[in-house]
Amino acid sequence: MTITDAIKNRRTIKSFKREPITENDLLTWLEAASYAPNHRMNEPWEVLVIGPETRAKLNHKKDFGGAPVVLAVLSKPAATPFERDENIMAVSCFVQNFMLAAYEAGAGVYWSSMGNLPQNRDILGVTPEYDVIGILGIGYPEEVPAVKPRTPMASKITHLA
Ligand SMILES: Cc1cc2nc3c(=O)[nH]c(=O)nc-3n(C[C@H](O)[C@H](O)[C@H](O)COP(=O)(O)O)c2cc1C
Repeated sequence: MTITDAIKNRRTIKSFKREPITENDLLTWLEAASYAPNHRMNEPWEVLVIGPETRAKLNHKKDFGGAPVVLAVLSKPAATPFERDENIMAVSCFVQNFMLAAYEAGAGVYWSSMGNLPQNRDILGVTPEYDVIGILGIGYPEEVPAVKPRTPMASKITHLA
């Protein structure tokens, strides 16, 4: 599998098998994710492993597709709004890396943005300085949706003088 194959063929998975994800696999994919670019090597990601009680409180409408593992990925506090944006960008790269590493191993990920809603931040116990970049449902896919075609990039390129 080339990197380009992985990028193009990874899909958002919304229905998972019950088969568990081992802690070792999860850690392997998180380690791979941590090679994301990040300014000043500040490694602004933090991860919460969501247990059954917290998961029930989050009350996601599809219960993250029955994913055996649910994580919240946080972006660390920053000194300035500019640095906060940088942290969010770096953590987004971290999540993409994580999804690709999981995909390489045959697993899939459901990235939900619900974690940053005020009521869900409260449930997660996140202080105001943190951003919740995503809640990730992770498991082996029960169903893989068809690719959603992308707009040709040629229509999104502007040449500046
Ligand atoms: C920041 C971010 C937040 C997302 N939040 C949600 C979400 O709350 N619910 C959802 O169903 N999908 C969510 N998605 C997944 C997108 O819907 C999905 O990536 C898009 O439909 C393209 O499908 P693909 O990932 O299979 O290519 C999110 C994706 C990103 C990058």
